[in-house]
This record gives sequence, C-alpha cells and structure tokens, in this order.
Amino acid sequence: MIDRKFPDKKLLSIHQWSWDMQPRTYRVVRKVEETPNTTSVYLSSDGDAPLQPFRAGQHLLFRIPGIGERAYALSAFSPKPKTYRITVKHPGRGEETGRAADYWRRQAVNGDVLEACGPAGHFHLPEQLERPLVFITAGVGEAPLAAIAEELAVRAPRHQLRFFHSTVNGSTFALKGKLGSLRGDLPNATWRIWFDRPQPIDRKDKDFDQHGEIVLADLRAFLPDCDCDFYVCGSNGFVARVVAELNTMGIGSLRIHSEQLGRESDDIVDPDERDVLPPVEPRTVHFTRSGTSATWKPEHGTLLEFAEGLGLEASYSCRTGMCGKCAQKVLSGETAKVRETPAKPRPGHQLLCSNIPISDLEIDL
Ligand code: FES
Repeated sequence: MIDRKFPDKKLLSIHQWSWDMQPRTYRVVRKVEETPNTTSVYLSSDGDAPLQPFRAGQHLLFRIPGIGERAYALSAFSPKPKTYRITVKHPGRGEETGRAADYWRRQAVNGDVLEACGPAGHFHLPEQLERPLVFITAGVGEAPLAAIAEELAVRAPRHQLRFFHSTVNGSTFALKGKLGSLRGDLPNATWRIWFDRPQPIDRKDKDFDQHGEIVLADLRAFLPDCDCDFYVCGSNGFVARVVAELNTMGIGSLRIHSEQLGRESDDIVDPDERDVLPPVEPRTVHFTRSGTSATWKPEHGTLLEFAEGLGLEASYSCRTGMCGKCAQKVLSGETAKVRETPAKPRPGHQLLCSNIPISDLEIDL
C-alpha cells in the first residue's frame, strides 16, 4: 500500500508551503443535513488547545480512516472559532459509493476523532480591501465563499459585494439560510441566484433570480465596473469557464482569485459540472518504473487519474495541486496544467493530479 503519511517539515521546505502542517486531532460534534446531497460537519478541538484562527476560504486536510487524505474548505467563519465547519457534497440516500464524501454522510458520528492539518490555503480576502468584491460560485463552491462573505461582514460590513451563485435547484441550494442571513449583515451587497433546472416548487424572483447557467455577459448590469477583485469557486470546469470569460472581459489574473474543487472534494459530480479539459489529442504515456505504456485520451482525466486507472500506485493527498505529494519526474515530453497549483514541484517534475499530456510522455513511475 502507498504510505500516505502527512507531509513532514522536509516536504514543506521542498514545496515552499506556508501552512502549519502539523496534524491535530478534532472531534465531530454535530452533523447537519443541509440538502439530500450536502452535509455540514462541525468539529471541535480534541483537547484543551483552542482552535486556531483562520482566514475564511482556507482548508483543513483530513486523514479519513480507511480512505486517505482529503482537503475540505471551512464553510463558516468566526474570528475566535469554537468549532470548525465543513460542508461536503455526497451521494443521495440509497446511493452507494466508497468515496470520501460518503464517509461524512454515513460513517462519521458525533464523538469521532480525526486528524487534520491546517487550516491553510491562499484563497482568502486580502489584508487591505481596496476594491469592490465579486464572488462567482457554483455548486458546493458556495461553501468557502459564504465563509468569506461572513468574514467580510465582520471586517467591513459596508464594503461593496456582488455575490453570484448557481446551483441545480432549491433541493441543492445547501447554504440558502446562511446566504439569506448575510443579506442583512452586508447592506451594500447584491445577490443573484441561478437555478439550472428549477423544480415546480422553486419560485422565480423569490427562491432564485435567473434560470440556466451563469453567463458573465449577463452580469455586466450588476458589476460596478471591472476594477473589482473577483473570487471564483466551483468545479474545475466551472472555474475554467468563468476565468476564461473574465479574461475576455479584459480582467487580468491579478484581479482573479480562483479555487477549483476537484472531484474528490465534490464527490458527486453533476453531469453539467464535469471537469472540462483542454482540447488535446490522445498521447502515449510510458510509466518507466512500472514498465506500463498506454494511450491517454482526454476522458481519462489527469495523469494521476490515468495512472490509477491503469492500476499504478501513485502517491497523492489533496488531488488539487496544493500538497505537492503527487509530483513525479517527467523524463521526456510535455504536460499542460489543468489548474493553477500552489505547490511548486522541483525542476523536471510535474504534479500528476493537475496535469495532462500534450505530447507523448515518459514518467518515472
Ligand atoms: S495530490 Fe496534492 S498536489 Fe497533487
């Protein structure tokens, strides 16, 4: 089996992490089923030490018994937290899966103790709030952005905010109550909710504002101007599309902060939210140490997913480009990133969880 130990200090220096990566233990103290597909889990410190303050938008990296390590964004903010909350998307009732998110729905019970590193991550508000903020989110991406909006309500409640969220319909709008209460806390905020496939009971102009997907061209009327700080969070495909649309509106990368929630953190993936990979060609990938060669096609996903599909044991942890644990040496050929990655692999190495091949490849795995 792969040794999935938490990153040690040596790894931290290699990958230039700024996280406090010493694991702590946390106790599950409450679970709330927000929707049939979404559960919030509250965790307290398992011991006397108080919980560490954090920046809304940051993650905890959990070691989940029998499954491995998974990162989840904190979905509620307090300057002096007594509990941490994560909000996890999972299969509905009666649907079986062995994936990590189902652990939180079915197995985790009050009193359980888990190890986690963090909170950490770079997706959060800046120290100085200089420009209006625009949050654009889909699916469970609302969780970290709702927490960031809570932080804003504490730090600068009169700051200008545009909050745009899309979800399937009222049955998947997990943090509707939280966003509703934030409307009162942020008097200069504008809120727009999209339902992709509203149910008969979903009321337009009450439960949601627009039918369909978020199309940024439709949002210009709600944007004060383009000199805003944009925060984008959702599935990889959603984030890639929105960032590309922002770029076409002339908004540069310095103004765009994005967080992609990979499949492991979403767990279930709506067919309309599947990751969108760049249009690339089938390539031959040779994994030299294992002596395995196969043809990669776009539907195989990242190189990590491809290697796993071939039965190869590849180390990983976060699967989102944060920890650096999946880095492997590329002996020949070129790869392309499917997401921006805080982890910076050593020269000649690439993060398998965040790259696809754009030529034939030889990888030392
Ligand atoms: S698994 Fe963490 S960076 Fe790839």
